[in-house]
Amino acid sequence: MRGVRIVTKANTPFGAQIVPYRRLGVRDVQRVVDYVRSRVAGPIVTSALTTIEQDGFREAGFTEREALHLLRHPLLDIHDHREPAGLRSGRRSDLSRVLEIDEVSFDSFWRLDRDSFNSARRATPVNYYRVATIERVVVGYAITGRAGRSAFLQRLGVDPSVRGRGVGTQLVSDSLRWARGEGCASMLVNTQVVNEDARRLYQRVGFVLDREQLKVLEWAQ
Ligand SMILES: CC(C)(COP(=O)(O)OP(=O)(O)OC[C@H]1O[C@@H](n2cnc3c(N)ncnc32)[C@H](O)[C@@H]1OP(=O)(O)O)[C@@H](O)C(=O)NCCC(=O)NCCS
Repeated sequence: MRGVRIVTKANTPFGAQIVPYRRLGVRDVQRVVDYVRSRVAGPIVTSALTTIEQDGFREAGFTEREALHLLRHPLLDIHDHREPAGLRSGRRSDLSRVLEIDEVSFDSFWRLDRDSFNSARRATPVNYYRVATIERVVVGYAITGRAGRSAFLQRLGVDPSVRGRGVGTQLVSDSLRWARGEGCASMLVNTQVVNEDARRLYQRVGFVLDREQLKVLEWAQ
């Protein structure tokens, strides 16, 4: 369908996710819902929407599923810090281990499988995929994307057994340095309002909280 991408994902509590590329009116939304309903069962969710993007969905009967903070880093000041892990590019052979970390790091709604992991990497024209290792074991990963001069921290996860030792901070700082080296003007990240660990980390390394929250909406009728 024009103006939207529809993502279906196995092993999740929702049937399909609607990712709009433009602002949809209520009739557009109804058409998309009818199209999805005729093909997939289960709740339909949206991607993270700004306030203005939500109108057509709310009018069509969508309600709030999740609130997200949006944070922005100006890439001017990137602090150095102690380096507890080794960082390297992620390889195809790391995927099973990375998905294990993802599984224990996110609830089922946000969890990635092989397909959604690969589509997260393809979501932007350029992406930077890094893993953190301690004694050669992968203990964390980060995916960062770039579209034009905007960078997006798309995914970050650290094995619970090594959290609180600086691995997350190291991965985020590395992504910030990469984005600056690519000539980006800023980096964006969004995180669940309930995820205080991630918000603290982002603010500590210089991300600034946006006034507007993003919302994931759900159509469960
Ligand atoms: C958010 C997340 C990536 C943080 O990873 P982490 O490796 O624990 O991050 P850090 O160790 O760099 O920082 C965590 C805390 O440890 C502290 N810390 C870091 N190094 C330390 C050290 N050597 N000694 C003591 N404390 C230390 C940091 O100051 C920070 O404290 P704060 O939260 O009070 O600011 C991790 O909790 C995670 O994977 N969560 C689930 C997935 C997730 O939420 N991803 C982000 C979604 S947007």
